[in-house]
Amino acid sequence: MRCYLNGYIRFEISISYALFNYQVLCYIPKMANTICIANQKGGVGKTTTAINLSAALAVLSRKTLLVDCDPQANATTGIGIDKTLVDKTLYHGLIGKSPAKSLIMPSAVNELEIIPSRLELIGFEVEMMSNPDREKALKNLLSEVQDSFEYIILDCPPSLSLLTVNAITASDFILIPLQCEFYALEGLGQLLQTVKRIKRSLNPNLKIAGILLTMFDKRTNLSFQVAEDAEKYFKDLVFKTMIPRNVRLSEAPSFGKPILLYDATSVGAKSYSNLAEEVMNVVIN
Ligand SMILES: Nc1ncnc2c1ncn2[C@@H]1O[C@H](COP(=O)(O)OP(=O)(O)O)[C@@H](O)[C@H]1O
Ligand SMILES: [Mg+2]
Repeated sequence: MRCYLNGYIRFEISISYALFNYQVLCYIPKMANTICIANQKGGVGKTTTAINLSAALAVLSRKTLLVDCDPQANATTGIGIDKTLVDKTLYHGLIGKSPAKSLIMPSAVNELEIIPSRLELIGFEVEMMSNPDREKALKNLLSEVQDSFEYIILDCPPSLSLLTVNAITASDFILIPLQCEFYALEGLGQLLQTVKRIKRSLNPNLKIAGILLTMFDKRTNLSFQVAEDAEKYFKDLVFKTMIPRNVRLSEAPSFGKPILLYDATSVGAKSYSNLAEEVMNVVIN
């Protein structure tokens, strides 16, 4: 009899334990994977990658937020937002004037939203100069919306300025676009040093998602040479997906559309869809 009771009680306890675990799992808020697209060189394909990777993730039903961290605001216009009609931008969030939710705007792609930027973002660096938490302003702002998205993609300016440091500090992963041209690897050492420093002091969980070869042109030896060099130095860190030089990719921003809406059949669109699949795998593993 005692044995039966013991067994019964144990059975009851294990059922309640399983139920408790299930409930705990249900209540844990999902946190977004934050990925910054960074390289201090200009014109290497950061904004093109930020826009089209975000859109490709959204098309795969992953709720995504694109954050334009560049005062030049190319991602904002490239996604179809008229900067002159915007009320508040990332700047107002970073200086603590507006909550993150109030900055979010919809895009033409379901599941993709954006925090826009504008020229006033230049003022952030000067205004935050004496603030001891200046490197964490973006991380703190995005923590307000972490549980509303699966992916947050940050488009960085072409510098290693305080804005880029904020983006790297707020990220789980950094994705580095490398343009297939002469001097592609130049400056990369400095970027990797910055990543190392931020990992050590501000963001110990930071990982490199990968190096992305952009504007690959199979007609030139130089493209193959850059790909070979990148693989020699970075090995498995280089994404299998390469983004080819594709006119449709360069046309899309002037229509305010990601490539998947502008020309879904182009090689550019296919390569960014492949990249989204690869990024999802890297983030899970
Ligand atoms: N794969 C590509 N094929 C053709 N043009 C591209 C490609 N990627 C980017 N571009 C063009 O190159 C220029 C620089 O790209 P962009 O993404 O703005 O670089 P960054 O943000 O690093 O400065 C833009 O005019 C863009 O349209
Ligand atoms: Mg850019």
